Amino acid sequence: MMNRPEHPIQTKDSALLRAGTFTSNRGLQIEEGLIFETGRPEVTGVDLDEPAPFQSRLGGLEREAPIGLPGLSEPETVRHYVRLSQKNYSIDTGLFPLGSCTMKHNPRLNEAMARLPGFADIHPLQPQSTVQGALELIGELGRWLMEMTGTAAVAMSPKAGAHGEACGMMAIKAAIAAKGEGATRRIVLVPESAHGTNPASASLIGFEVRPIPAKADGAVDFEQLTARLGPEVAAIMLTNPNTCGLFERQVVEIAEAVHAAGAFLYCDGANFNAIVGKTRPGDLGVDAMHINLHKTFSTPHGGGGPGAGPVVLSERLAPFAPVPFLRADGEELRLVEHTSEAPQSFGRIAAFHGQMGMFVRALSYMASHGAGGLRQASEDAVLNANYIRASLSDLMSQPFGDQPCMHEVLFDDAWLKTTGVMTLDFAKAMIDEGYHPMTIYFPLVAHGAMLIEPTESESKASLDLFIATLRDLALAALGGDAERFIGAPFDAPRRRLDETRAARNPILKWTPPAPR
Ligand SMILES: Cc1ncc(COP(=O)(O)O)c(C=O)c1O
Repeated sequence: MMNRPEHPIQTKDSALLRAGTFTSNRGLQIEEGLIFETGRPEVTGVDLDEPAPFQSRLGGLEREAPIGLPGLSEPETVRHYVRLSQKNYSIDTGLFPLGSCTMKHNPRLNEAMARLPGFADIHPLQPQSTVQGALELIGELGRWLMEMTGTAAVAMSPKAGAHGEACGMMAIKAAIAAKGEGATRRIVLVPESAHGTNPASASLIGFEVRPIPAKADGAVDFEQLTARLGPEVAAIMLTNPNTCGLFERQVVEIAEAVHAAGAFLYCDGANFNAIVGKTRPGDLGVDAMHINLHKTFSTPHGGGGPGAGPVVLSERLAPFAPVPFLRADGEELRLVEHTSEAPQSFGRIAAFHGQMGMFVRALSYMASHGAGGLRQASEDAVLNANYIRASLSDLMSQPFGDQPCMHEVLFDDAWLKTTGVMTLDFAKAMIDEGYHPMTIYFPLVAHGAMLIEPTESESKASLDLFIATLRDLALAALGGDAERFIGAPFDAPRRRLDETRAARNPILKWTPPAPR
């Protein structure tokens, strides 16, 4: 059977040009239609006997007509999803320099551990006496996180970084309410360079967000920050290292000023991977911080889930941590599930007590590295980013000058100014060279930002090839070869998509073509 969809979705003038072959395939790069185009409602992958006559109990809610789901045979189904999966670029395919995302190698040992039946086959509603080992693992992971961050408590249930931010801000809100200041402390200060989830989380919890500008060196403007502190400020959300790849050197002074003003210091710990084993956020004065296990501790990125974003809390915030949390009752571990046992807890933020599979992977990563190995991973991540910075800084400009960076290096587009090539074009040309682009246009404080995070996973040979590729592209842009960039990628399964149109006018539903 031919793979070509019966109703092609691309038009000649769209960016989705076909390969020009009879099948629309290019070599072994198979063009894949939507499942609605390849499947037929009358086909089924299984043969089931007609059910015996039965009495419906749906009381008139029965479907009156088939809903038109596409049917495929088992081999067709397998091929459809395997082909789709082959279109994904992943860390298992090659270097993935997406800044602020920490696309590091996921060690296979972690996968083997997570598949052990004692972890993989348990259910959150099982009696706790039957899952004591799993609870011990959650407790052990939490202890490591508190030790590494120098904090007093940990909430394990948040499902991702942004969920962790919401959790930390809810603990802060509860602590402020307990002091009787809930009606007055309503403002949260967020640096302009912050990830968009920070202001979103604060406002979701009901705070009013006010920005703090950055200084010429990329750090938070301390004078502006202290000028904004006052009895109406609940907290500041600081990312450290920040999203420009720089360590906030004044973090201790910031913590002291924030505390003196009666507010809390929330740290976005997404970039914790740069400082593990080097410094402890709790020692710097941080009150709450989420940790993206899928970044620092190598659990897979799940495209929105399943993730884990545990939140560590200072002694001041510990009583307000969410349920459930672990408590030892003699020899037995037990989850405290209800606020009746934790009256100051802000409540519950997730149905159960976290993502077991992610916890196993993270602890496996920690245990297999040991304290020295974790410290070295951070050092290598920083070294790799600085190697890229030093190797490209003669061609590409940096918004805050040529200074050492942490785990990621930020370039801007000043160096492209006279070339007719934009950051977007440069990133798309990287696809033709077989690289996933770096993060672009974030953080917003750098014009035409290009944020590169190589992580510690890459060998020197891999970094050298990446650097040589970027140098070749940069020299082409500076040498006037704009054609290599405008309209790129030229060799990918899809040409450049109209991202603005896709965002403004998303087509989220397949509409059957009109009968011919
Ligand atoms: C600095 C920063 N903060 C917060 C987040 C949100 O984390 P998550 O994607 O796990 O929700 C990210 C994610 O990329 C981030 O880079």
